[in-house]
Amino acid sequence: MSQPPKVRHIATSKELERCPFPIPFGWFAIDLSAKLAIGEVRTIQAFDQEWVLFRGEDGSVGMSDPFCPHLGAHLGHGGEVVGNNIRCPFHHWQFDADGWTKDVPYGNTPKICERQSVLRTLPTQERYGLIWAWYHPDNAEPSFSIPDVPELESDNYIEPRLGEWTIDTCIQELGENSVDCPHIKYLHRSPIMPEGVSSADGHIFNFDIYVDEHMKVLGKSYGPSIQVIHHVHGDTRILMFAIPLPITTESTLSRYLFTFEKHPKGSEQQIKTELLYDQAIGSSDLGEAAGFAEVDIPVWNHKKYRHQPILCDGDGPIAQWRKYFSQFYAEKTPS
Ligand code: FES
Ligand SMILES: [Fe+2]
Repeated sequence: MSQPPKVRHIATSKELERCPFPIPFGWFAIDLSAKLAIGEVRTIQAFDQEWVLFRGEDGSVGMSDPFCPHLGAHLGHGGEVVGNNIRCPFHHWQFDADGWTKDVPYGNTPKICERQSVLRTLPTQERYGLIWAWYHPDNAEPSFSIPDVPELESDNYIEPRLGEWTIDTCIQELGENSVDCPHIKYLHRSPIMPEGVSSADGHIFNFDIYVDEHMKVLGKSYGPSIQVIHHVHGDTRILMFAIPLPITTESTLSRYLFTFEKHPKGSEQQIKTELLYDQAIGSSDLGEAAGFAEVDIPVWNHKKYRHQPILCDGDGPIAQWRKYFSQFYAEKTPS
């Protein structure tokens, strides 16, 4: 139970904003690795702007600002991969995945291009079949790592299944669901009021929800956009890997990878595990309850954020979650 903060002002419609937050910093899953072939250049929308994704001949991935530092051509419209560089369509200058100028084909490379990287790029990695990028509005270096999730790399687990939904809200609001226990009973129509236990530890937030002695959800957030969540029902468990991507400050591509241990087809364990998976993917969140796609998304799509909610003693640790999440905003946000 959180200590309800003092309410000084009860804001009404015109004062309230939908998502009054900048894009947080952290590691973000940008897309499936399989969707970017060697030599491919693609434009994507993320972090409230366009970016250009490209894969060099050695397989490495670059993610850059779209606009060429020379005369501003869009690298995603006619840009090509040459070796491991992206080549601008307009005058064929080339840049590597760190934004350094590699070729100016008809003149001397300007001094500034020798001193510094002139094309903004994001650090990238590939893990779990995903392209990851570290986004920070001020280009600060990564301050934590993508977590190890052995289930996503184990041959004993099924190939991860992807679920994705576009939701009109920011990722802080999506994550707040994890600590909002009463909504599981009232919105999801769970027969039982689950109990939650949560704690924050640096960039990690632990949240465990206990429905009854057989059913629990054990979750960890690693920064603003990675959640490792185990749904456990007796001796059956599935892993839900939540990797939401902010498209704008008010729109999120909410993605999940699901995996679980392989069991012989038709075995009791396999049937139980598939049932738990069906519940997690949306037919039901917890037992005989309504799934998140059915009930959470309509709430998220229309709600406004209250800086000063009127909370009661039965609410989950909303304030604790918000304080934890605020560390990922580079600029000061209203409390
Ligand atoms: S605008 Fe890109 S090379 Fe000239
Ligand atoms: Fe929910």
